[in-house]
Amino acid sequence: MQPNPFKLERYFSQHEFTARHLLCTSDPESMSIGELLAYEPDSIDGLRDTWLGYTEYPGAPALRRELATLYENIDADEIIVHTGAQEAIYSFMNTMLAPGDHMIVHMPGYQSHYTVAEALGVSVAPWKAREEAGWSLDPAELETLVTPATRALVMCVPHNPTGYLPSRDVFDAIVAFARKHGLWLFSDEVYRGLEHDRADRLPAACDVYERAISLGALSKTHGLAGLRLGWIATKSAQVLERMSTFKDYLTISNSAPSEYLSAIAVRHTDALIERNVSMIRANLGVLDAFFARHADRFEWHRPRAGTIGFVRLKREGAERFCAELLERTGVLLLPSTLVDHGDEHVRLGFGRRNMPDVLAIVDAYLDATVTSTAS
Ligand SMILES: Cc1ncc(COP(=O)(O)O)c(C=O)c1O
Repeated sequence: MQPNPFKLERYFSQHEFTARHLLCTSDPESMSIGELLAYEPDSIDGLRDTWLGYTEYPGAPALRRELATLYENIDADEIIVHTGAQEAIYSFMNTMLAPGDHMIVHMPGYQSHYTVAEALGVSVAPWKAREEAGWSLDPAELETLVTPATRALVMCVPHNPTGYLPSRDVFDAIVAFARKHGLWLFSDEVYRGLEHDRADRLPAACDVYERAISLGALSKTHGLAGLRLGWIATKSAQVLERMSTFKDYLTISNSAPSEYLSAIAVRHTDALIERNVSMIRANLGVLDAFFARHADRFEWHRPRAGTIGFVRLKREGAERFCAELLERTGVLLLPSTLVDHGDEHVRLGFGRRNMPDVLAIVDAYLDATVTSTAS
């Protein structure tokens, strides 16, 4: 199997570590190992004593016990730890889908949600977000997309790249649809916890539906992408069995120091969420003012969750705009061509501490381009 290149990741591999300013990243501000250890001052001894042999196949039991606390109805043995969420997506697609199957996927979306399946010979029906309605989904459309070959529905809540978070009614309708048709509900929840208002948090899909697979990671909600720690949680013994067996051909087991540090992070989930959401809220205030000033150039649907939003450019193509912005200011935005969604939008990230400074650079650039066009 040779999936098509992951366009967004190829773009980041080229620019993420060379661009002077990042304005499209989805992971919030991270921290050093020292800062994480400070949440548990005696934990340095445990890190020093961490044994560097292989760890248990599905993930260290102590870590899985911590992860289980993030759910209502999930036990430690209903979790498989992976190397980032990405490995788990690849494993799910390879183990639970087969050539000739059909799958419904929320679009625009995160490319590995559909490209891996397509490479396996699975046909993908896009369930399209409606920009005019704040990038929302209409569950009534699902009945028009389902076929006798449909095996899975992939959703991403909160969503990359639009920041959309369904209401509880819409979420319940999605689960009811999946249950009615006996579908696997692969629910990418790597941004779960980053609701801008805590009251908007939805249940984890695995807590409410027996054929749901909830995908979690420390990369986004906790801001710790360098730990490369993801997991799936599910009540399905079949999924657990198949994905465990497949992992033998991927990373076998996880990194012992990462698992140790990850358990600390999970114990302090609430504090890490508070740290990230307060930064996000402050940045959103700055963005509101920015978009009010530039209403002639951009259309912005303020997300209710997560670290990213999808902005329409009213005047120019996204690829050209991003290329010129990068060349003239060193600011990196992400054009929608890289998420297979035309050339009219850019993905903007607002989870980093320096976002207001980077936005000020864009502001000055826009003013300068208006002046130079006028003169
Ligand atoms: C929706 C979504 N799922 C999965 C991933 C992959 O996460 P990880 O870095 O933990 O592999 C990302 C990363 O951007 C993402 O945005």
